[in-house]
Amino acid sequence: MIPDDEVDRVLDAADIVTVIGERVKLKRVGNSWRGPCPFHHGKGDNFSVMPGRGYRCWVCGETGSVFTYVQKELGMDFVEAVKYVGQKFGVEVREVSRRVEGPDPREPLWEVVAAALAYFQKVLWSEDEGTAGREYLAKRGIQRDVADRFFLGFAPRPVGALRRHLETLGFGVERQIAAGLLKQEEGKEPRPRFRGRLIFPIHDPRGHPVGFGGRAIEPDQEPKYINSAESAIYSKGSLLYHLHEARYAIRKAERVLVVEGYFDAVRTAASGIEEVVAPLGTALTTEQAKMLKRYTPNVFLLYDSDKAGLKATFRAGDALLREGASVRVVTLPEGEDPDTFVARFGAAGLEKEIHASVDVFERKLQLLQRMGWFGDISRARKAIDKLLPTIRAAADQVTRDLYLTRAAQMSGVDRETLVREAAAAPARRPADEAPSPQPERPRPRTQGGRRQLPGPGVEAERSLVRAMLLAPNRMEEITEALGRIDDEALAVSPDIRPGLREPSMRAIHTALLAAGDDHDVARLSERLSPEDNVALEELLANKDSIVDLDATIDDSLAMLKVRWRTERIAALRAASGERDPAQVHAEVLTLKKEIDAVGRRA
Ligand code: CTP
Ligand code: MN
Repeated sequence: MIPDDEVDRVLDAADIVTVIGERVKLKRVGNSWRGPCPFHHGKGDNFSVMPGRGYRCWVCGETGSVFTYVQKELGMDFVEAVKYVGQKFGVEVREVSRRVEGPDPREPLWEVVAAALAYFQKVLWSEDEGTAGREYLAKRGIQRDVADRFFLGFAPRPVGALRRHLETLGFGVERQIAAGLLKQEEGKEPRPRFRGRLIFPIHDPRGHPVGFGGRAIEPDQEPKYINSAESAIYSKGSLLYHLHEARYAIRKAERVLVVEGYFDAVRTAASGIEEVVAPLGTALTTEQAKMLKRYTPNVFLLYDSDKAGLKATFRAGDALLREGASVRVVTLPEGEDPDTFVARFGAAGLEKEIHASVDVFERKLQLLQRMGWFGDISRARKAIDKLLPTIRAAADQVTRDLYLTRAAQMSGVDRETLVREAAAAPARRPADEAPSPQPERPRPRTQGGRRQLPGPGVEAERSLVRAMLLAPNRMEEITEALGRIDDEALAVSPDIRPGLREPSMRAIHTALLAAGDDHDVARLSERLSPEDNVALEELLANKDSIVDLDATIDDSLAMLKVRWRTERIAALRAASGERDPAQVHAEVLTLKKEIDAVGRRA
């Protein structure tokens, strides 16, 4: 937690225009700054930044403070955002309630690992010993900038090299052993754990260097990988490679990719898909699953599709399902792993494969069916035994329900029977589902006396009606476009609410249509109820919110096209137990494609 007065000090020092201006092209308009909205990716200047106050988008309705901006755009939590902004403007932020009883006892180990890391990097790039490492990286197509971003290094072959270097820096042998850099065998000189290997530094989620993975660079060098030994700072089951860098990207992208190897993670992140992590040579543990779930419920597994890879996939899948995650499997073409695949097809290629991912349970069904497991009775019985653990693992009730329905469909076994079978052995419940603390939120900085919670799209509705008021010549075109949106929505379902939902906006629109060529506002006002007149006044009071009429209209219409589709997807998902999952899936996919298409045009 950060004390309120600290937050205020940061807020006072912060220039929101500078912070947002780093990512959004802002230009000055009167007292505020305008630019394209980063939240709905609009193209017009509908996003308004008000120094000392905050921002608001006149199309998608996003509004907030410099902290909410940083939280949403960079995927930080509130404390991280305050620190980030504080650092930018030279305000040191004191966090309370994090133990303040002095330095962390692990500090000395982090220090020596950091020193080793720097040494390995120096060897890789500036010493003869590093030649083999440089050649290896070149062979695998990893450029210097990428290597530096991941702090890759090289562990030299001579036995005493690392030890001597660290000793000259004042790190005693004991400390080197405690950090797992040296291993001591009975009655022998301590020896380095890593020799003649390419080094992948491993960090804990807060960014402390805690250990290394070392890859062999010669064909006959065994084993292929060596990882740091378990220590006070390194525990392979509770760390994930690249998580400290990926965590912001994970929150922002609302998904995480789990790959098997260091190279897979490096290549994928370097291609621009930064929300990627890898376990450290072991099956995904419950602890790792929990860590990921804290950042996002949407997990994509990109494991090898050979037998071992599939086994690891389903095991990881079950661990994640137990934490209530949604787990999808990405199947790359035969013989490819994310490393080789991204090297050939880039981030765009990988995105396509991610798009074609299937739910982990669906994948299991697919494989069982392809291998004929539902073909005869005795095999079907066994197939069900293979499915039950995954059904039981699903902590999310809706997911579990869907799985039961699919299993019944595929196997022809009565659903109720499956429900009983699944219940027979109790699902391993996440024992420690402690109620999570309330997310910290910045106190709202109010912006005039606006109504609370406008909901998505409400600003877009207002912008459209405002546009019709200010540019009557555009009324017909906007009215038609709104009609088309309503028609499209109605064709999908009679339950979908129309484009213009706000009663006042509908009333003003209707009155405008009735007024025809009469553009007199006073007469328009006479046709409206007192309440609608308040809304009308507000529209006119914020005339300046439109700086680019065309873009405002386009963006606002796009917003409404996306809004009902997003709602429809949520409704489909919520009611998915009642309908054929394949049908639901197909409709969701179509809607998502349409949303993408709207986004691209905007
Ligand atoms: N691993 C390990 N010990 C081994 C082999 C593998 O710890 N003896 C871990 C490493 O973290 C490695 C991951 O498992 O990154 C995946 O291993 P593997 O699929 O064998 O290799 P790749 O990641 O494809 O590595 P490379 O591309 O270098 O062959
Ligand atoms: Mn590989």
